Amino acid sequence: MKLKLVKDNNPKIRKKSEEVSLPLSAEDKELLDSMFNYLVKSQDEEYAQKHHIKAGVGLAAIQVGYAKRMFVIYYEKAGQIIQYKLVNPKIIETSIKKCALQDGEGCLSVDKEHRGLVHRYYKIVMKAYDAIQEKDITITAHGYDAVVLQHEYDHLNGILFYDHIVYDTPFVQLPNEELI
Ligand code: NI
Repeated sequence: MKLKLVKDNNPKIRKKSEEVSLPLSAEDKELLDSMFNYLVKSQDEEYAQKHHIKAGVGLAAIQVGYAKRMFVIYYEKAGQIIQYKLVNPKIIETSIKKCALQDGEGCLSVDKEHRGLVHRYYKIVMKAYDAIQEKDITITAHGYDAVVLQHEYDHLNGILFYDHIVYDTPFVQLPNEELI
């Protein structure tokens, strides 16, 4: 199915997404597949240039117009592929320690650059149904992996990364915060 990105100038991006019923419908599976394929292709430089799209590591259903609690993740880290198609994710644990990407965050739905630290939990534990492994899973993520999961999870509640930037002091680290 053809996907069209919802940008942050569209109020729909602020919608709170709804729980998805399991087992997944054929339509929801197809949507997850299309979202996942979009991400993989976005990382192919030639394809991305030709189609004028940005490279992304995560994509939530609301970003393509569906207010469903689902997101996909795809990236390579230290020679390993990190990939999920998560449904109804819940964050069940967060660390006291915080972290932020030193170069800030970006988003497929945000064209404008927003400079500043996006404060996140350093570690989270997330539970979800994963349509790749076709079962309920528990993910314990630290650092970058935890940042990506929190960024996508935020989309399910209509939150964008720049909501976390403190605009008066955009580059001031929080106590207990590691820059990564
Ligand atoms: Ni995003």
